[in-house]
Amino acid sequence: MANLWSGRFDSAPNADVFDFGKSLPVDKRLIDDDIAGSRAWAQALGKSHVLSQTDTDSIVAGLDAVQEAVHADPSMLDRADDEDVHAFVERELVERIGDAGKRLHTGRSRNEQVSVDFRLYLRRRIPVLQRAVVSVVEALVSQAERAGDATMPSYTHLRRAQPVLVAHVWLSYAAALRRDWDRLETARHEADLMPLGSGAIAGTSYAIDTAFLAETLGFSRVTLNSIDTSGDRDFVASFMYACALCMTRLSRMAEDVILFTSEEFGFFELADEVATGSSLMPQKKNPDPMELVRGKAGTAIGVLSGWLATMKGLPLGYNKDLQEDKALAFGAEDDLDGCLMTVAAVVRTLTPRVGVMRQAASGLLLATEVADYLVGRGMPFRTAHEVSGRIARDLYESGRDFSALTLDDWRGYHEVFEDGVFAAITPEAAVRARLTPQSTGPDAVAAALAETRAWTVDPFREERCAEGPLGSPLFGAV
Ligand code: ARG
Repeated sequence: MANLWSGRFDSAPNADVFDFGKSLPVDKRLIDDDIAGSRAWAQALGKSHVLSQTDTDSIVAGLDAVQEAVHADPSMLDRADDEDVHAFVERELVERIGDAGKRLHTGRSRNEQVSVDFRLYLRRRIPVLQRAVVSVVEALVSQAERAGDATMPSYTHLRRAQPVLVAHVWLSYAAALRRDWDRLETARHEADLMPLGSGAIAGTSYAIDTAFLAETLGFSRVTLNSIDTSGDRDFVASFMYACALCMTRLSRMAEDVILFTSEEFGFFELADEVATGSSLMPQKKNPDPMELVRGKAGTAIGVLSGWLATMKGLPLGYNKDLQEDKALAFGAEDDLDGCLMTVAAVVRTLTPRVGVMRQAASGLLLATEVADYLVGRGMPFRTAHEVSGRIARDLYESGRDFSALTLDDWRGYHEVFEDGVFAAITPEAAVRARLTPQSTGPDAVAAALAETRAWTVDPFREERCAEGPLGSPLFGAV
């Protein structure tokens, strides 16, 4: 069997070992990127007069034909016996246009091809994930709008802490997801370097116009050093990190949804369409999709740490170990995409139980308000904390809360308590008392809601996500 390197060898490869080394089943996803890279490379060779205009035209047309054939029948990629996507494209090209096709690889290595392909791939695929992040933020914003002035407890140490607006909780996830969006943007920026011209490791001996290649392929920069380029997969690690941290976020959100929709909390009702039943226990309504999101976060973290472990021992330059990156990164991408879709669907369809949440926000967690009330009447905070703590302890021991106290009871603890204490010690008053821009104060939350809503419809982002980074149909449907 002839392959890309058979000239050097006496015997055909051991078929099983060759199969073991094949990456086509995985890197077939890069087909459009590989063809785009090759098309630009052929043009660069033509521009430098390494290829005749006739050969260049013939290669470009041949690559178009290969792309058309693969799009018409993607199963071609599954039937093929080539080592990787680069070998597949070259063989298909030579079969179509003959000798001109054999000139395409002049001055180029698969080591830089795989780099350019994967960079192009991430450049066009990351916006798809970013769009899915925006969908989750949209679902959070619509829940926040729906929540109005409803209150619920916030928790620290999973113990009731202070009343907050339900909207404030939804917007807290939105604030964090916006960091995830930015982190994906950073990964996309890191992929934005054009590696061609690096050759296998030492660079190429033809005067290739790398700026032309960068511009043609939609990169804003060219890599700095051919040795570094051939073995660099930092951009892949950065992508995995962005995925792993976003998955960590979704996992924490999933955990909250699981808790808040449980019988014990009962703050929200999970929609039937995103819940599952039990084959044995008829009463069950399980949050399986959220559990799966939480579970997949573990896998995403494993992808990142596994990849770092693969990279850490490699000598300078390309090593075949690097081939492992794609299965891991594609898995992380698919999981993140599925999890974002699922979380958006679950959040969008949650029904709040306003009464249950308000009740839970009305108990001893108003103790901070009691202390603040006393501070408002001139008492030092430390003393106020102690007075409020004493009242809370007594109430806790008698199984009651602040609403059980009469004015005499209040004044029994301290004479500064007056009639106004009843209105001050409610979840609504607690929320209204919060004044900083990050707080759960109703004005702050209304402003945050408007600002977050505006973020979801940012026209610059919409435009870029819709067109794809390269604005070119050559890169296929996403
Ligand atoms: N399939 C390889 C990868 O994914 C492409 C580069 C192979 N280069 C080589 N010299 N074997 O990393």
